[in-house]
Amino acid sequence: MFARRLFVYFSLSLLFSQVTPGQSATPVPSLPGASTAVAAPTPAQPQITFNSVHVEGPYIALTFDDGPNATLTPKLLDLLAAHHFKATFFVVGQNAADHPEILRRAVREGHEIGNHSWSHPNLAKMSDEAVRHELQKTEDAIVAAIGKRPALLRPPYGSITANQKRWIHDEFGYRIIIWDVDPLDWKRPGPSVVTSRILKETRPGSIVLSHDIHPPTIEAMVATFNQLEAKGFKSVTVTDLLALAKPLPPKPSPSPRASTTPIPSPASVSTPPVTTSTPGG
Ligand code: NI
Repeated sequence: MFARRLFVYFSLSLLFSQVTPGQSATPVPSLPGASTAVAAPTPAQPQITFNSVHVEGPYIALTFDDGPNATLTPKLLDLLAAHHFKATFFVVGQNAADHPEILRRAVREGHEIGNHSWSHPNLAKMSDEAVRHELQKTEDAIVAAIGKRPALLRPPYGSITANQKRWIHDEFGYRIIIWDVDPLDWKRPGPSVVTSRILKETRPGSIVLSHDIHPPTIEAMVATFNQLEAKGFKSVTVTDLLALAKPLPPKPSPSPRASTTPIPSPASVSTPPVTTSTPGG
């Protein structure tokens, strides 16, 4: 349906994009000698966008997009409860408005609700006013359901511009959550493939993307949760994972690339105009 057509578009657009989501939030490195020339150093900007975090401990964040779904999301909540895993649901506003009781159950059981827009459009291609409308309408539906504003946004397809990240953070207070583990479950490769992809890629601090609107995804979560738990992983909400984040330890030695190019050119550290990711989000 609508989402499928956009998948095709984004598969094509990926061919022309080298951009990795989330990296645009990386602070610009200071240049050697700049401290003598610049009177007032600019304080580091707080990070707005996250693909994963560095944590000390076996913590991950399982995230489920595009729901809630009347039958699948309750099944998933049962599975999560059996493993004491907490998840984050990035809900589509119109689904949230249709199933507020599922959101209430999720929150009651310790899960988090994030904003995933009202109708799942590509935000990067839209006017600020249209984006604002998508987010506000969804936020209103979430507040109506659970009595609490969301703190997180996952842009559909992970697609959002650097400028949008800034004003959305300023206006709504959202942090922008992408992912580092994507099993491409929306392509329905089969539950065992979804499980093996997640198990292979997940490490402490990972943010795992899946969708609670596809029956094989929920089926995949039975073995996925069993194996994640066997490996000692603990899933927490995204907000809790971000709170557990620690600064990355300094690297033991500079990379060969860094030693040949010590000063990044402005182009290499500037924020790309559009962040486009895989179509799964
Ligand atoms: Ni989505």
